[in-house]
Amino acid sequence: MQRVEREIAKLIKEVDYDEVTHLFNKLTGGKRLRAKLILKIAPEHEKAPLLAAIVELIHAASLLHDDVIDEASTRRGVKSVNATDGSKIAIMLGDILYSKAFTALVEFDKEIAKAISSSVTSLSKGEMKDVKMAEEFNEDEDKYLDMLYLKTATLIEAAAYASALLANKDAQKHAIYGRNLGLSFQIIDDILDITSDAATLGKPSMNDFVEGKCTLPYIYLYKELEDKDKSRLKSSHAKSIDEDETLWIKIKMQEHGSIEKSFLLAKKLSSDAMDAVKGDEELTKILQTMIKRSY
Ligand code: FPP
Ligand code: MG
Repeated sequence: MQRVEREIAKLIKEVDYDEVTHLFNKLTGGKRLRAKLILKIAPEHEKAPLLAAIVELIHAASLLHDDVIDEASTRRGVKSVNATDGSKIAIMLGDILYSKAFTALVEFDKEIAKAISSSVTSLSKGEMKDVKMAEEFNEDEDKYLDMLYLKTATLIEAAAYASALLANKDAQKHAIYGRNLGLSFQIIDDILDITSDAATLGKPSMNDFVEGKCTLPYIYLYKELEDKDKSRLKSSHAKSIDEDETLWIKIKMQEHGSIEKSFLLAKKLSSDAMDAVKGDEELTKILQTMIKRSY
């Protein structure tokens, strides 16, 4: 991972603008899940750290833009760039990071460059769908999962596919692994938004629903509620809700097993991911660690 951090620092230095270096250094790196995945799939390849750096820059850019779109004041427990330096700077920093990443992609074969760059189109489509869907209460599970796939899983899928190509491994199977890992990861994230407290999350608990996002536990809950309660849940959507209402939603979710049902789907997707790369202990370990995160 040190080599990845070095590649990231080199790309940022090449931008040749102190303000960018300064702003980038203030960002918290996060788990670097995508980079770790690339190194696990193509550990021997000399260009794997550069590919990992590219993917991490794209991911960082997408989060900078996402925080502007979501009007989020924190990211990973610290103030977001849009909160400290304004939305204009956050957007431009994002533009610089992802265009720099795209420039570096020319170092790779066409198929790898295409997989990574087209996943950014999907990512952006997913984000747009997310914004559109948050305008109304969404009860459609398939629509939700399609948006989730585009928004979160496509970059992980492309990272797995591209690194498998680098390492001469089965790219299709690794793509399936990446896709299911991404989906499972996001569903667990959605669950944690409800089950964790604000201190652990680095943002208020149940923030997704306040932002208008009807994640899987809400979709499952809505299906089970009687009409009167359906209306009550809908009327809390996309607004800041008081403690009583939060508690009511949590109790109802408990009654109807909405969290467990969501978790079962995350586990099923994880096991599909494991099946795709059967026998690869390192990739299996990534999944197991992720599933444990939700306890
Ligand atoms: C986080 O979602 C957002 C994403 C994973 C993708 C965002 C994608 C874009 C803004 C498209 C533009 C892409 C580039 C490269 C500039 P979330 O809001 O559900 O998660 P959060 O709780 O972490 O904010
Ligand atoms: Mg967001």
